[in-house]
Amino acid sequence: MLILGIETSCDETGIALYDSQRGLLAHALHTQIAMHQEYGGVVPELASRDHIRRVLPLVRQVMRQAGARFDDLDALAYTQGPGLAGALLVGTSVANALAFALGIPALGIHHLEGHLLSPLLANNPPGFPFVALLVSGGHTQLMRVAAVGEYALLGETVDDAAGEAFDKTASLLGFAYPGGPALAQLAGQGRADRYRLPRPMLEQMHKTGNLDFSFSGLKTAVLLLVRKEAPDAAGKADVAASFQEAIVDVLVAKSLYALEQTGLNQLVVAGGVGANRRLRERLDFEAAAQGCTVFYPEFEFCTDNGAMIALAGGLRLGAGIAKSPPGEHAKVPGPDPSYAFTVKPRWDLSAAML
Ligand code: KG4
Ligand code: ZN
Repeated sequence: MLILGIETSCDETGIALYDSQRGLLAHALHTQIAMHQEYGGVVPELASRDHIRRVLPLVRQVMRQAGARFDDLDALAYTQGPGLAGALLVGTSVANALAFALGIPALGIHHLEGHLLSPLLANNPPGFPFVALLVSGGHTQLMRVAAVGEYALLGETVDDAAGEAFDKTASLLGFAYPGGPALAQLAGQGRADRYRLPRPMLEQMHKTGNLDFSFSGLKTAVLLLVRKEAPDAAGKADVAASFQEAIVDVLVAKSLYALEQTGLNQLVVAGGVGANRRLRERLDFEAAAQGCTVFYPEFEFCTDNGAMIALAGGLRLGAGIAKSPPGEHAKVPGPDPSYAFTVKPRWDLSAAML
């Protein structure tokens, strides 16, 4: 089955063509990071307008690269939420319009489902069930994944997401948005034991069994530290390294405890922060010591992309659960004759999928 995936939930236009037998055939991505950088964050209206400009040329490019025709498509898969409403509307309306024109289904995919299934695109994919750590700019969650469409929430952040904490701390140290990768690079040159920063919600974890996260206190601790110390270049590298170690400590400890609690031995790491090398190094080492294996998406599929959305659509179709979530009209087997579609800027993954 051939599925065209469309991702426009935030600041990346991602398009991909996935074949359930042959795997990923082609994909393309346009990132708006440079455009938003001068504002210090994503400007929703600019994001929507840029998606409008990019989406159709990228769709044509991907079809051409794969040597595919629109008539060959079996389904469209698009990010229906969560994300920026206007940005979501672009991909959603293009996907539904194409699906109506071609007489094939349009599958609304949850953005985080795309992220957590993305390691299945790699050469050595995990099997079900597994624990997924989703760490992106907007989300930090631990999920138990029993099968495609069966996701149970184990813990999530009560305030900032891990990527958000990276970006805000990076901004404090003078990096342009999104500064997570630059902060991680600087951390590589610093001493992680120079400053002792808090590990929020960690001390009590084994007593309470709580797998939630909180990162806003950590960010504030860095703010106070930077104000007090006014660090020079070397000092900033030490702040970056100490911050990264604190956040990695929390993510590693909670992930391993989630494996222990669920009795599972496979961990999948997805989302932009999953590209962090120190996190990978520590997780690999400590999970192995516990007899567990960690799976990551390819680097290019850690951040937002169309491939994970096309894949999620393909797996849903394959598993026979290719219908819209409860409350929505089914989009299979054919297009909705009312031509109606909706986006879901706020959408709880476990509630939507169970
Ligand atoms: O998954 P993603 O592309 O977008 C969202 O859906 O949010 O994640 C982007 C986030 C940003 O906060 C970015 O700073 C962070 O992932 N990120 C990193 C690294 N690469 C990307 N954070 C830490 N270390 C990295 N190497
Ligand atoms: Zn994302």
